[in-house]
Amino acid sequence: MFKEELNPVETIILRTLKSLKIEWDAEIVWSSTPFSGEWGFGTAIGFQAAAKDAAAKDSGVKNIPQRAQEIAQALVKAIGAPAGFVSVEAVRGYINLSIDPQVYARRVVDTILADGENFARGDAKTEKVMVEYSAPNTHKAFHVGHLRNVILGGAMANIFEFAGYETVRANYWGDIGWHVIKWLWCYLRFHKDEEPQGDRTRWMQEIYSQATQLVEDQPEMEEEARKLYKRWDARDPELIALWERTRSWSIEGIMQIYEVLGEHFDVFFFESEVEEPGKKLVEELITRNIAVDDRPNGGTVAIKLDELLGLDKETFRVLVVLRSDGSSLYATKDLHLAIKKFDEWNIDRSIYVIDVRQSLYMKQIFKTLEIMGFKQSLNCFHLAYEIVNLPGDVTMSSREGTVVMFDDLLQEAVKRARDIVQQKNPGLSEDLKAKVALSVALGGLKYPLLAVDTNKVATFDWESALNFEGQASPYIQYAHVRANSILARAGDIPAPVSPAYTLEAAEITLLDRLSRLPETVQRAAQDYKPLHLANYVYDLAREFTNFYQRCPVLRADENMRNFRLRLTAAARQTLKNSLALLGIQAPDVM
Ligand code: ARG
Repeated sequence: MFKEELNPVETIILRTLKSLKIEWDAEIVWSSTPFSGEWGFGTAIGFQAAAKDAAAKDSGVKNIPQRAQEIAQALVKAIGAPAGFVSVEAVRGYINLSIDPQVYARRVVDTILADGENFARGDAKTEKVMVEYSAPNTHKAFHVGHLRNVILGGAMANIFEFAGYETVRANYWGDIGWHVIKWLWCYLRFHKDEEPQGDRTRWMQEIYSQATQLVEDQPEMEEEARKLYKRWDARDPELIALWERTRSWSIEGIMQIYEVLGEHFDVFFFESEVEEPGKKLVEELITRNIAVDDRPNGGTVAIKLDELLGLDKETFRVLVVLRSDGSSLYATKDLHLAIKKFDEWNIDRSIYVIDVRQSLYMKQIFKTLEIMGFKQSLNCFHLAYEIVNLPGDVTMSSREGTVVMFDDLLQEAVKRARDIVQQKNPGLSEDLKAKVALSVALGGLKYPLLAVDTNKVATFDWESALNFEGQASPYIQYAHVRANSILARAGDIPAPVSPAYTLEAAEITLLDRLSRLPETVQRAAQDYKPLHLANYVYDLAREFTNFYQRCPVLRADENMRNFRLRLTAAARQTLKNSLALLGIQAPDVM
C-alpha cells in the first residue's frame, strides 16, 4: 500500500548494507505496525542482517542483539527523513517508519477503492502450484465428508491464485476399482437398461448401497460380482461401454454439485488412465530393486521403506504397490500420477488435499518418489484435514444414519435460510429471496468447515451455521449488507478525501484491519490455512459493525461524512474480497 514510499527506503537500505560489507540478497519484509498514535511499518532487517553476517563471516560476533541495533542505527542514519514518513527509528534491531495517521487513513481507503476486486492481490510469483482436491469416486454418493475437502481445496486454490501464484486446480476421479465393478454387476443383474431419474448422484448411490449390501450379506453374490472382474480385465467392449456411460452419469451429477458450490477445475485426472502406466512403473521399481516382488510366493509387490532407508524404528513401514493377483492399488496409480502432474503441467509444487487418515500413505508415496530419484518429491505436500462431525440435528434421511448426502444438506440449508430471509425482509421479491437464501445457505455450509483448523474435527450444526450473531457466515454477510445499505442511501461514493478530524477508536481499528488483508492472504498461502482468512473476515465484520453502531455516517458533517462513506465502501469491498476467497458470496440485501 505504501510501495512508492517504501521503495526508495529499501534502495537506501540495500546500498548501506553493501557499504557495511554485509551480504544481503533476500527480500526486505515489512509488516504494518498497529496504531500507537501513528501508523507505520517495521522490518527486522537489523537482526536479519546481523545474523546473516555472523553466519557468513564466521565472525565470532557474539552479541547479535547489540550488532543488530548498530546496523539498524546505521541504516536509520542513512535513510534520513524520507518523503511520506513522519519519523524513522531504530528500536532493538528493528527499523520503524511512521506515517501521519491522516495520510495513512486516506491511503488505505483510496487504495482499496482504486483496486476494487483486486485489492490485496499479491504480486505475480514465479512458482506454479497445483492443488488437487475433491477427488470423488464415481458410482457413489457425494456426502458431507466430501464437502470439507472441496470447500477447503477450493479456498486454498483461491488463496494461492490471489496471493500471486499461477494455480492449477486439479481433480482426480476414482472411476475404477471394486466399487465400480460391484456397481456394474448390480446394475446388470437388477437394473438393466435403466436410466438415472432425478438426482443422478443419489440414484447412483442407491444402486451402490444395494450392491454393497448384497455382496456383504451373500457370499455367492460376492462371487458373482467378482467374476465381472474377468470381463473387465479382458476389456470386454460391452462392459467398457456400460462403464463409460454410467461413469458419465456420475460425473455429470457431481459436476452439478460443483456448479452449485461455485467450483471449477482446470484438469481432470482419472484413476483409469493412470492404472496401466502405474503398473509399468512398478515393473521398473522391481527391476531397480526398489520394490520386492513376492508374487511367486503368492505375496504382493511391496516397497519395504524402512528397510531400504536403514531405519530401525518403524517409520514409513511397507507400501504395497501391486496385489498378488497383479491388480492395482491406490499406490500403483499415485506414484505415476505424482510424476505426470509435474511433467505435463510444468508445476513447481504439488498439493494434495486429502483427509488425515491418509497421512502415512502420503508420506510413503512421497518417500518412494524420493528413493526413485524424483527430486520434486520434496515439492509435494499433503494438506491433511480432519473429519466433519455431525450432531443429531443434521443426521437425516440416510439409511444407516451415517452418510448425509450433499443434496439433502443443501436443500435443508436453503429451506432454513429462506425462512430467515422471509422473517428479516418479507418485502423482497420472491426471486431475490430465493437468490439470497441460496447464498446464505451456501455460506452457512462452507464457513464452519473453514473456520476450524484443518487438524481439528469440524462440527456442523444448523444453530451455529446460520447464526446472525456469532462467528458465522450470515453475520459476516449481514455486515456487507449493512455497508451496502448505507451506501445505497448516500448515492454516489464521494471523491477521495483525508479525514480532517481526529479519528475515533472504532475507525482506527477498522482501518487497521482493512490494511491487513494483503498480508493475511500471503500468510494463508504460506501456512496452507484458509483459517487465517476465515478469522480475518469475521474480525472485519465485527469491527465494521462496531464502527457502524458508534460512528454516525450519513448525519455527520461534510468532511466526516465523506470520509466515513469512503471507509464504509472500503469495508464493503474488503468484506466481499475476503469472502470470495472462501468461496462465499456477499449479498447486497438480506
Ligand atoms: N478417490 C479417493 C477416495 O475417494 C481419493 C483420492 C485422493 N487423491 C489421491 N491422489 N490419492 O478415497
